[in-house]
Amino acid sequence: MASLDTYIGTVRSDILKIIPDSRSFVEEHLFQVFFLPDEKLNKVKDLLQAEIDKRLHPDADLNDPFTFYPSFVEQVPDGSENGKYLAIDLGGTKCRTLVVDVNNKTTSQNIIEETIPMDYIRDESASNLFDYIADQLHRLLTDCKLLNTPTSLKLGFTFSFPVKQLAVDKAEVINWTKHYKCSDLIGKDVVDKLEDSIRKRGEMNVKCTAVINDTIGTLITGAFIDPHCSIGLISGTGTNGCCFEPVKNIREYRNTNGREEKMVAIDTRWNNFGYGDVIDFLMSEYDREITRDTVGINMGIEKLMCGMFIGENVRRVLHKMYTEGISFTSWKSWPSQWKDVFSLDTSVVSDILSHPLNGMVIVNKYLSKFNIDNLPENDCRLLYRVCELVVIRAGHVTAACVACLVQRVGKEVIGVAVDGSVFKHTSLYRDVLNDKANTLVDHKQKVYFVPCNDGSGLGAALIAAMMDKSD
Ligand code: BGC
Repeated sequence: MASLDTYIGTVRSDILKIIPDSRSFVEEHLFQVFFLPDEKLNKVKDLLQAEIDKRLHPDADLNDPFTFYPSFVEQVPDGSENGKYLAIDLGGTKCRTLVVDVNNKTTSQNIIEETIPMDYIRDESASNLFDYIADQLHRLLTDCKLLNTPTSLKLGFTFSFPVKQLAVDKAEVINWTKHYKCSDLIGKDVVDKLEDSIRKRGEMNVKCTAVINDTIGTLITGAFIDPHCSIGLISGTGTNGCCFEPVKNIREYRNTNGREEKMVAIDTRWNNFGYGDVIDFLMSEYDREITRDTVGINMGIEKLMCGMFIGENVRRVLHKMYTEGISFTSWKSWPSQWKDVFSLDTSVVSDILSHPLNGMVIVNKYLSKFNIDNLPENDCRLLYRVCELVVIRAGHVTAACVACLVQRVGKEVIGVAVDGSVFKHTSLYRDVLNDKANTLVDHKQKVYFVPCNDGSGLGAALIAAMMDKSD
């Protein structure tokens, strides 16, 4: 990609060429909203820094639902881990179960990945969801001939929602994010729930020895691949980051003597950052509308950058352009497929952007899958440009959050281990993130991103392997 500024300049002049009469819309609605200058991004970085310090402060209010808990993961794999370990990765829309062979500094794995039925996600009770997960594990253990083993198989559970972490294998749900309801699990231990369902399903001799957030799993996988990794990042349905913090900064370790030099991984829960009016200066009319229309979905700044909302932002901008008669004038009505909130999935945006801009025919072909009429070339180009702008903003805001953690870690060269569908499938997002993160950090620091496919699940298995050694 050419330098980001040149790229954005091209996007701007191209949109102006397509809709010359709507200069004010382009300037005020598209560029002011989606193109964030470094000043604003630096402000995000500093505010998040202050927020993390506040949450880590020994006097931080423990009853505050946004409080931090350490992960109790105090080390990264050193290569001496060996054996067969299991992992379950419950994050966004998918459930992954893994059998991982760790051997001689390498791993090989069998994975089953399934899209979780929406009914289980939206159910008030978590029982169907956990029974479903236990079924998936049973399927995998059947395939791998690991049912009824004489000794118990150790499992790491990646549970990517806000929790009150009480021990490495004990975590109570604080609230759900993304599309999840399952309210009867709030305040309860997810490991107990998982083990109950596994026991109920039968024939599996499995012990869950660690429960972690997906950022922590990704960081551990990253550190296994590249020792410079000290930050974990998820850019998927949701987003979040973690890093290692000296234990002396952690309330739970206050009375632990002789370990002051140690580090422990913390989930910064940056996804929650931005409640109240703290990030008002970033919020667009689209973000405000989305917040109003998605009451009950408990997510903060991540609404500006994660997979759950990128498609929704695009949908709203296109809708505004349509209703104000700025574009898509050939449509007799707004496409019914894009009527509801979240009906334009982020994967559509990633797919559209994966074709070069001059391949407009491809955009049309792609839209025809959704029964959307042939769009004139200019509308196609506009749609493409809107996707770009929304993705650029997502990459910028993520970069500000990453830069904040880079500042905390303080090393000169820092690897960021990263997993998640947005990062994996959207090359523009990857480019913007890399470029902007390096602009926002101290000029002596260098950040690079280490893709960790299935890192969140694999990391859970690696942690189970590390725990096994320290038993
Ligand atoms: C969750 C986090 C998670 C992130 C990425 C957020 O919505 O609250 O716990 O790490 O998504 O999956």
